[in-house]
Amino acid sequence: MLSVEAVQSHLTTRHLGREIAYYPSTGSTNDDLWSLLDAGKAKAGQVVITDDQRSGKGRQGRRWFSAAGLGLTFSVLLRPELPPERLGLLSLGGGVAVVDALALEGIKGRLKWPNDIVCEGRKLGGILAESRMTDEGPLVVIGLGINVNERIVDFPAELHPAAVSVYMVLGKPIQREPLLAGILNHLEELLADSLDDVTSLWQERCDHLGRPVRFQGPDGRLEGRFTGVNPAGQGLIETGSEIHELTAGDLDLKPG
Ligand code: BTN
Repeated sequence: MLSVEAVQSHLTTRHLGREIAYYPSTGSTNDDLWSLLDAGKAKAGQVVITDDQRSGKGRQGRRWFSAAGLGLTFSVLLRPELPPERLGLLSLGGGVAVVDALALEGIKGRLKWPNDIVCEGRKLGGILAESRMTDEGPLVVIGLGINVNERIVDFPAELHPAAVSVYMVLGKPIQREPLLAGILNHLEELLADSLDDVTSLWQERCDHLGRPVRFQGPDGRLEGRFTGVNPAGQGLIETGSEIHELTAGDLDLKPG
């Protein structure tokens, strides 16, 4: 069982994670955080964590699988000072924070646009950011799911061999609390710098910068070279003389 006290003992933050709601079991931590907010019980920096998320939400309306008691499944409430068109930078910042926190555990994670954390070519984690506009500016819930102590048999068959965990890479389990605290510590540092460097930090950690990719978006399919992210966090694909700005969709490395 995750210990809130242990997480907080590793925090160096002023805001993020100073209030943590722990639910042994729940539907979705993103939904829980919005409910706490609606009930007047959450302010910026609030974290919700669970050991057993039953209806985890993934990108593009997909489900997110979490094995009970093994991974990290949590959401953070942010009130960023960013214009709505730059809110996409927050999930990039989440990805950078995860990769940097994983590095402290000896794991070399990389990022796949828009916000997958990958390791050895397989998916180690994902991020789902949801936002609401309020009179005081945007509010954003960043939900993170990280595979930590799962063995391959803990994942459902349809996630083989796409999923990987910290345990599977290191060959041993780790404590989840310092990793969670590390993510919050890194994320708060990025936010303190107004996410100024986040696009270059993201690109340095990107798994497919300059590589040929395929992209399936709402307007169809694209094939080209991934050249980076723009100041709004949109992925960029170059096809011949054109540069396409990506919004929602799925990107894959082109084989060969
Ligand atoms: C993805 O599709 O890759 C994003 C997955 C995001 C999952 C996390 S787990 C914590 C939070 N609560 C949810 O319901 N989803 C996010």
